[in-house]
Amino acid sequence: MRKTIVAGNWKMNASKESVKKLIAGILSGMDGVKSEVLVCAPFPYLSQVESLIVGSEIRLGAQNLNINESGAFTGEVSASMIKDFGAKHVIVGHSERRSIYGETSAIVAEKVKASLEAGLTPLLCVGESLEQREGGKTESVVAEQINAVIELVGINVFNNIIVAYEPVWAIGTGVTASPEQAQSVHLFIRSLLGENNETIAQTTPILYGGSMNAGNANELIACPDIDGGLIGGAALKAEDFLHICKAG
Ligand code: 13P
Repeated sequence: MRKTIVAGNWKMNASKESVKKLIAGILSGMDGVKSEVLVCAPFPYLSQVESLIVGSEIRLGAQNLNINESGAFTGEVSASMIKDFGAKHVIVGHSERRSIYGETSAIVAEKVKASLEAGLTPLLCVGESLEQREGGKTESVVAEQINAVIELVGINVFNNIIVAYEPVWAIGTGVTASPEQAQSVHLFIRSLLGENNETIAQTTPILYGGSMNAGNANELIACPDIDGGLIGGAALKAEDFLHICKAG
C-alpha cells in the first residue's frame, strides 16, 4: 500500500512574514491529515522553515540543486547544504527548470544522482508540453525523461525517488488534466518502471501536479495510480493546501 504524499512547491514566492503565516496556518490544521506533507521552500527560507516545523510531521524540501558537492560555482547550492538545513527532499527536473534554464534529461539525471548520494529523496518531475500531447508524444516524452534517470542511477534506487507527473500545459494554467488523462500517464509510468522491476514499480509514489486545488484533489488522488500531489499555487494558502492534504 503506497502512502499518499502531498508536497507544496512554493516556487519563487515567499517572504519571512508570509512563510511564518503559512507554516503557522498549516500546523494549526494538521489534525486528521493522514498524508505525508512536504513543503519545498526557496533556498533563503530553508532555515526559517526548518525552525518553524520542529517537532511536527511536516517535511522540508528544496526546489533545485547543483550536481557538485562544493567549490567555485558562484550562486549555486549543493545537496549537502540543503541537507544541512534539515531538508529531506529536493525537486529535480521541474518543467520550469527544463524549459527556462535548459536542463536536459541528462542534467536532471545527474541531479537525481547527486541528491541520492547526499541522502536526499528527490521528487523527479516529468511531463509533456501541449504540443507534444497534441502530437501524440506524451508517452515517448515521459519515457525519455524517466529512462535517462534509470540509465544513470539504476532502477533499484527508485525505492528512494518520488516521481511527479506534471503535464506542462496544466501548470499554473488552471487547466487540470482530467482524472482519466492523469491516471493513464501514471499507469504508463508505473508500467515503464515495471519493465525494469515490478516491485519497485508498485512501491514508487507517483504524484500528480498541475493546477491541483481544493476542488479537484479528491477525484485525482482517488485514481489508483495517483499517490498524491505536487501543488504550486494552492500550496501558498494554508486552507487550500490543508484541504488537499486531507484528500489523501
Ligand atoms: P500549479 O499547482 O500552480 O499549477 O503548479 C504546479 C507545479 O508546477 C508544482 O510543481
